[in-house]
Amino acid sequence: MEAAPPSISCRGVTKTYDLAKRRVEALRGVDLDIAGAGFFAVMGASGSGKSTLMHLVAGLDRPTSGEISVAGARVDRLSEAELTRYRRKTIGVVFQHFNLLPSMSALDNVMLPALLDGVTRRDAEPRARALLEELGVGARGSHRPDALSGGEQQRVAIARALYFAPSVILADEPTGNLDSAAAARLFELLSRLARERNTLLLMVTHEPEAAANCERVIVLRDGRVAGSFDTSDSAGRRLDAGALAIRTQELARSAG
Ligand SMILES: Nc1ncnc2c1ncn2[C@@H]1O[C@H](COP(=O)(O)OP(=O)(O)OP(=O)(O)O)[C@@H](O)[C@H]1O
Ligand SMILES: [Mg+2]
Repeated sequence: MEAAPPSISCRGVTKTYDLAKRRVEALRGVDLDIAGAGFFAVMGASGSGKSTLMHLVAGLDRPTSGEISVAGARVDRLSEAELTRYRRKTIGVVFQHFNLLPSMSALDNVMLPALLDGVTRRDAEPRARALLEELGVGARGSHRPDALSGGEQQRVAIARALYFAPSVILADEPTGNLDSAAAARLFELLSRLARERNTLLLMVTHEPEAAANCERVIVLRDGRVAGSFDTSDSAGRRLDAGALAIRTQELARSAG
């Protein structure tokens, strides 16, 4: 298990897609520093670059230029083999689409990263079962994804992301496919997990109610960080969702 303290740092990160007819500058110089465990939100208009940033930090794609460091590793400089290991062990990733393998049981989906890493079924199973239990889907281990609700599928996906106890969890609209009651329960669960496991959780969300559970909100605008703010003031008073939405919109629309 990795022991490096959780952190994410981006310096001048750009990502340009060269399409046949035009060039898309999805990220135009992202500078970002998050140090230590906690729950952080990424917000911003559709197309502002949130998912692109998450993909680069997750090592699923490489930046066009700039530096990305996560838990002490220079992600932009890792070899393909090192990236595979990084994706499996240093970070956990949870997406809007649950990305479970449809032909496998919930239990097998959770064990998959371990099996791919050479752990035997016999060794992987107790931990996978304990994670399903902790996430409230212990009785669903033998179900295939299509026999689970959306909220249950996402819990299985989170259990899978937690198998190797990553120091950083990236979640891109993890409740985007859930109804509001299931979404609220999942946010609570995620923030509790981040706290209990000393994890840095970076979550993209469009929902001010969800971001209000985070410590800091980072707002992207046109491929750059427009600004960020804490969700509680110096007296410890927390911003409510309405006030948070206004702050976010001010930054998302600000010039420059
Ligand atoms: N693979 C790709 N090829 C070309 N353009 C892309 C690709 N991925 C993203 N883009 C473009 O990059 C920009 C940023 O996209 P991104 O998905 O990061 O936005 P987002 O902030 O996550 O938006 P949303 O809130 O809608 O999910 C958009 O203009 C998008 O069309
Ligand atoms: Mg997105």
